[in-house]
Amino acid sequence: MNAEELNRTARMLVTDHKGLLAMDESNPTCNKRFARLGIPQTVEARRDYRELIVTTPSLGEYISGAILCDETIRQTKKDGTPFVQALTEVGIITGIKVDTGAKDMAGHPGEMVTEGLDGLRDRLREFSQMGAHFSKWRAVIAVNDRLPSRGCIEANAQALARYAALCQERGMVPVIEPEVLMDGDHTLQRCCDVTEEVLRTVFDQLYRQSVNLQGMILKPNMVLPGLMCPTQESVDEVADATVNCLLRAVPAAVPGIAFLSGGQSGELASARLNAMNLRFKSRMPWELAFSFSRAIQQPALEIWLGQGTNATAAQSALLQRARCNKAARRGEYCTAMEIDS
Ligand code: 13P
Repeated sequence: MNAEELNRTARMLVTDHKGLLAMDESNPTCNKRFARLGIPQTVEARRDYRELIVTTPSLGEYISGAILCDETIRQTKKDGTPFVQALTEVGIITGIKVDTGAKDMAGHPGEMVTEGLDGLRDRLREFSQMGAHFSKWRAVIAVNDRLPSRGCIEANAQALARYAALCQERGMVPVIEPEVLMDGDHTLQRCCDVTEEVLRTVFDQLYRQSVNLQGMILKPNMVLPGLMCPTQESVDEVADATVNCLLRAVPAAVPGIAFLSGGQSGELASARLNAMNLRFKSRMPWELAFSFSRAIQQPALEIWLGQGTNATAAQSALLQRARCNKAARRGEYCTAMEIDS
């Protein structure tokens, strides 16, 4: 493992106020989103959609890295150019999702543990030969009055750390994603407590597994009240709770934190990221960026609807969200940016 190389790649992923675009939905998740909009759930439709994304003009001005899934990294544009090459040509670094999904956890009703460690070393070698420079692994943590259990937090944290160590061994930057879910009626304070406990456990495991913190990116949830919680805090309150939680739990050696969006609207995700960067500008030791899937892609998908004639309008919508999030990293996002589009 070349520590300097890892650190350079990690810093490039969060440089220049850019962020990551997660376009690594598994086939079942992608199909579910297509089905809701009446888009055919076929390999070709998924390829068409991913080509639309990677060929969006000027995307590289706002996006530093794109996370692909196993199917997409093997696909090409209609003219035969591999997606990896198309991304590289516009300055976007290729990443790859390498977990094989969250599965029901034995002995822990209502909880999941992420799988994918078996054979991972060989898969990482293959993906790195295909041009991937970083990768992603997502753990999911459910919250209610009794969850999460210590068993679930510890199993997921250890898997994340073992994944990260294997990744760095291959010279790839691990994007470490422990997601505390928004589902439920828990309060913002409860999300804050759970997120802090999860992050402390993850960093404890990263230390035990000899992971180089300067060669990784953390991809956490924002600290939010549950979707069904009657009290929904303001943008500034969410920003303060989130950054204070991260300041308590994330070591300064980590070069960047790139949030998942988790089901927030595109506008809210941008507004909250903006408030964090604005209110804590000089007080954060890491870059505070984004690694959104739905909060960047959803408007574009709703315009595209599987129709080639809608592709240009869909690309504009995608670029608009990418632009808003780059502005949010500078603390320069405002709702007028939405109206102007
Ligand atoms: P969302 O931004 O839609 O939460 O997706 C992020 C992601 O990569 C989930 O693994």
